Order: sequence, then structure tokens, then C-alpha cells
Amino acid sequence: MAADTEEMINLIAPVLRIRLGKDERYPVVRFVETTDRSTVALSISESMDEVAVIEAATKALGSVGGVEAVSVEGVGAFEIDPVDETSPGRVAGRVLIVTGAAQGFGLGIAQDLAKEGACVVLADINIGEAGKQAEALRKEYGTNCAMAVAMNVTDLASIRSAISETVKTFGGFDGFVSNAGVVKAESVKTQPEKDFDFITEVNYRGYFLCTQAASQILALQHKACSDYSSDIIQINSKSGLVGSNRNGAYAGSKFGGIGLTQSFALELIEDGIKVNSICPGNFFDGPLWSDPDNGLFAQYLESGKIPGAKTVEDVKRAYESKVPMGRGCTTPDVMKAIYYLIEQKYETGQALPVSGGQVMLH
Ligand SMILES: NC(=O)c1ccc[n+]([C@@H]2O[C@H](COP(=O)([O-])OP(=O)(O)OC[C@H]3O[C@@H](n4cnc5c(N)ncnc54)[C@H](O)[C@@H]3O)[C@@H](O)[C@H]2O)c1
Repeated sequence: MAADTEEMINLIAPVLRIRLGKDERYPVVRFVETTDRSTVALSISESMDEVAVIEAATKALGSVGGVEAVSVEGVGAFEIDPVDETSPGRVAGRVLIVTGAAQGFGLGIAQDLAKEGACVVLADINIGEAGKQAEALRKEYGTNCAMAVAMNVTDLASIRSAISETVKTFGGFDGFVSNAGVVKAESVKTQPEKDFDFITEVNYRGYFLCTQAASQILALQHKACSDYSSDIIQINSKSGLVGSNRNGAYAGSKFGGIGLTQSFALELIEDGIKVNSICPGNFFDGPLWSDPDNGLFAQYLESGKIPGAKTVEDVKRAYESKVPMGRGCTTPDVMKAIYYLIEQKYETGQALPVSGGQVMLH
């Protein structure tokens, strides 16, 4: 597809989607080259800026009810799948992109959002696994509920292309969950520079790049309706709030993430975008800790990090005992924080701990 057509789709689809929404629920707006549906004609020229496109769309949609599709000469058509107004889902009629959604926290977040009625975009460098997981969600909740996109959060072109795919398929998005993250724990005395750079690149720089790309569409949607607000939510860590022994590169990248969140929040509020971080405690049941071969429990048993531990279970118990609430963080714990941040319209720039009391704010 020509770059200028892609630009036009990125400009038109989000405007249509927001203008056709009601009560914070928005239809799916899908780009197609041609359509059999009856269409409303929208006249757009390449010289028009965002404000002019919004005005033209508002005029074309006017008081027409039940719009099935909108055609734009020289671009194509946009099919409209109406919102299910009866859905009880907490995020029904909303689209959310989740990075690092092929496994772990990201997958659990995407699955719960789909269960609660959202269209979810599983964005991951591991497109094979993300594709399988999206397919499973479509089988369970319907064709419009999930799609997978290849995305490398360290590469702006890849992020932009994944966002364009999202706009072509769903018409835009209302939340961006910046979850993809990596860890390589090692002492500052020995950690290779390339490992430090790798962690910083994904966890810190990746969050900057994702926010830069995502905020363009979210800001446009706010221009299309001044009451509209959206969310960028970074999955940070308790290690973003307190130092982590022999894990400085990771903790530093997460501390930096909170600096970005606070700064982005100040800047993007004029675009109706709330920006917050969630700081979960250790997710012991996820693959990062529990993978039988490479998980951290297996690694710590092998390296003798927990004196006297003879099994993986011994290592796990030692870590659980560090948490006042006696257990690791789970995806349902994180989901409560995500729904709180989406539903709470009067908060931005925060770092919300979900750590069973292991980290307390001061
Ligand atoms: N596991 C924990 O104990 C824990 C605790 C607190 C916070 N976190 C944070 O939660 C987030 C998810 O952690 P997890 O344990 O679920 O991780 P995980 O390793 O299980 O999954 C990470 C996912 O991110 C993807 N990914 C990695 N690099 C990427 C890149 N450059 N671009 C796109 N995708 C990429 C991977 O393919 C994978 O699917 C991370 O930000 C992590 O720092 C994890």
C-alpha cells in the first residue's frame, strides 16, 4: 500500500470511529478497498489537515443513523461494525494494544481485556506465538475481538507499522499497554555492557518509542471529540520503586520508566491521554520465574543463591516469604490496577504498586 494511502487511513479511520462512538463505546472501523455495503460518501483531499478532516467527517456523518460504511474517493472504504450496546464487558467497545502479549503478564492482560469485551491487539516480537494466542481468543470471543501484530518495541518503524495495522483493522485504539520488558540480572561488577544496553533499549527506550508512536493516534482521536480520553499504561515493576540487588540495569530501566511516565503525563494531558505505570511484585507463576529449564527459580537453585534450598519449591518459598502477603503477584491482581486506571478519569502520572505490601510508597 502506498505510504500516502496509509497516512490517509491513519487520519480518517480514527476520526470516523470516535465520531460514531457513544457512551465511551466505539464501533470497529475496518479499511477495505471496496465494499458491498451501502456507503456514505466522504470527500477528503490530501491537502486537508486534521481539523479539516474532522469537520468534513462530522458534516458527512451528520445525523445519518446506522452508517454501514463510508467511502472516500481515491482511498477506499471504511466498513462500520456497530457497538454491542448490551455487552456487560468493562471495556466493551474499546480497542487496546498490549505489547509483549505472546506470553506472561502481557498474554494474561490481553486475555482478560478480551473477556471484558475489548478488541485486543497482541503485539510481540514473537509473532508466531502472538498469532496462536490471538486465534484462540477469536475462537472464544468472536472474530473482532483479537488480532496479532509483529512489533519490536526497540524499532520505531516496526511500532508504526503495527499501529497502522491496528488502525486498518479496528479503526484506532483507546489504550496502549506498554508491557514488553526483559531482565538479565547480574552484578554491576561483572555485567557485560551489551546486556546493560539490551535491557535499557527494550525497557526504557522502547517505552519512549511506543509512547511517541501511540500518542499520535490518541491525540487525533481527542481532537475529534474533546470529551474523549485514552490511556497509556506502562507495566513497570516494584524494581522501579526500590533498588534491586545485583539487578541494577533492570531497576535503573524501570526507575527511568517512571520518570518518563511522570513527564509524558504532564505533556500529553492536553491531548486527553492519561499516562500511568503499574508496579507489580514478582509474578512467580509466569514463565520468567517458573519455566522449568530457564526460569529464575531453576537458575537460583542451580547457582545456590538461596542457602539450603534443595528444590525449586524451596527457592519459591524463600521468595514468597519476602512478601508481606505471602504470595507472588498474579495477572488478576494487575488487571484490577488496569481497570482502575482506565476508569479513574481524575489521575495521571502515577506509579501504582501491586506488590502485596512488599514496596510501600513514601
Ligand atoms: N515476571 C515478573 O516477575 C515481573 C514483575 C514485575 C514486572 N514485570 C514486568 O512485566 C512485563 C512482562 O514481564 P513477563 O514476566 O510477563 O515477561 P515474559 O518474559 O514472560 O514476556 C515478555 C514478552 O515480551 C516480548 N518481547 C521481548 N522483547 C520484545 C521487543 N523488543 N518487542 C516486542 N516484544 C518483546 C517477548 O517475546 C515476550 O512475549 C515486563 O515489563 C516486566 O519487566 C514482570
